Amino acid sequence: MQIQAIAAHEQGAMLRPYTFETESLGSFGCVIKVLACGICHSDLHVIDNDWGTNRYPMVPGHEVIGEVTELGPEVRHLKIGDRVGVGWQASSCMECRYCLRGDENLCDENKGLITDSYGGFADYLQVDARFAFRIPDGIKTEHAGPLLCGGITVYSGLRNAGMTSGQNIGIIGVGGLGHMAVQFASKLGNRVTVYTTSPDKAEFAAKLGAHEALVVPREGALPQPQRPLDIILNTAPASLNWPDYLAHLDADGTLAFVGVPAEPLNIPIWALLGKRRRIMASPIGGRPSINEMLDVSDRYGIEPIVETFSFDQVNEALQKVRDNTVRYRAVLVR
Ligand SMILES: NC(=O)c1ccc[n+]([C@@H]2O[C@H](COP(=O)([O-])OP(=O)(O)OC[C@H]3O[C@@H](n4cnc5c(N)ncnc54)[C@H](OP(=O)(O)O)[C@@H]3O)[C@@H](O)[C@H]2O)c1
Ligand SMILES: [Zn+2]
Ligand SMILES: [Zn+2]
Repeated sequence: MQIQAIAAHEQGAMLRPYTFETESLGSFGCVIKVLACGICHSDLHVIDNDWGTNRYPMVPGHEVIGEVTELGPEVRHLKIGDRVGVGWQASSCMECRYCLRGDENLCDENKGLITDSYGGFADYLQVDARFAFRIPDGIKTEHAGPLLCGGITVYSGLRNAGMTSGQNIGIIGVGGLGHMAVQFASKLGNRVTVYTTSPDKAEFAAKLGAHEALVVPREGALPQPQRPLDIILNTAPASLNWPDYLAHLDADGTLAFVGVPAEPLNIPIWALLGKRRRIMASPIGGRPSINEMLDVSDRYGIEPIVETFSFDQVNEALQKVRDNTVRYRAVLVR
C-alpha cells in the first residue's frame, strides 16, 4: 500500500511530505490507521542525526496510536478495529535469551521504528503486530501515545533502578518523560523531589504529585533536597554536573539515566565509592513491562498532560519541543 507521511529529508531539516510503498505485510504484520502520535525528544535526536543513525528520508513518530485495519495471518492477539499503540521498538529476533525473558528491548537485533523503518507521522503505519499493544479503554487516544515511549521508559527505568514504594525519588527534568516519571513515582507511593530549570514547572510540580521542587539555577550551586534520595532518574538530554547530583544520593543510591546527554559522563570514583552508589542507564522497556505500565497507568490514573497539534502543524510542534516550551508533551492528532 501507499503511505502518505511527513519526513525529514536531510539532517536537521524541517519536515515535508513523503510518500512511500510498503513491503508485503508478512505473517505477523499489521496495518494501523494513525489517530494520534506524540513527539518525543528522541525524534529530534534522530532528525538531527545526534546518534549517527543517518538515514533520510526519515519519518519520525514513535508514540503512535491508531486503529488496526489489516492483520497478517498469524496474528492472534489483535483484531480489526482494535485501538493499539506502538512505541520506539519495531521488532526483535524473538528467540534470544533476552527476547525469551521479555526483555525484547535488550535484543541484539532490536530495530527502532524511526531508525530502521518509518514512524507514525503518517496516515498509516505498518509494523510487526507483536510490537503493537492494545490500549485499555480507560485511557484516551491523545493521552495514550506518550505512554508508549516516554511512559514505558521512565516506568521501566525506575523499576529497574529498584523503585518500589516508600522511597525518596529524584527526577531531573520535567519534560515529556519527567512529568510522567513524577506521576509514576508518587502515585506508587514514593516521596518525589524534582529538579527543574523552569520556575513555572516547579510551581506546578505539586499537582503532578511532587513533594519538593528544586529550581536549578543556570550558574551557581545546586539546591539541596530535604532528604537523601534512593534513586535519581535523569530525563534531561543535557550534560550536567553529575557529581553534584550524586552527592544527593543516599548510601546504595542509584543515578539512573534515561535522558541522553551528548557528552561522556565525567565522574570521579569518590562520588560513588564512599557511599556504595551506582550509575545505570535504561532503554525503553520489554513487552511485558509495556503491558504492565499501561495497566498501572489505567488503574492509578497516570495521565500525560498534552498539548495537541494537527499533523499539519508538525514543524511548529517540533520547534516548541526544541524551545522547551511544551507543557508537557506535544501530541499530533487527527
Ligand atoms: N532511554 C530511552 O529509552 C529513552 C526513551 C525516550 C526518550 N529518551 C531520551 O530522554 C530525553 C528526554 O526526552 P523528552 O522527550 O522527555 O524531552 P523533553 O520533553 O524535551 O524534556 C526534557 C527536559 O529536560 C530538561 N532540560 C532540557 N535541557 C536542559 C538543560 N540544558 N539543563 C537541564 N535540564 C534540561 C527540561 O526540563 P525542565 O524544564 O524541567 O528543566 C526539559 O523539559 C531525551 O534525551 C530523549 O532522547 C530516552
Ligand atoms: Zn521516545
Ligand atoms: Zn532477541
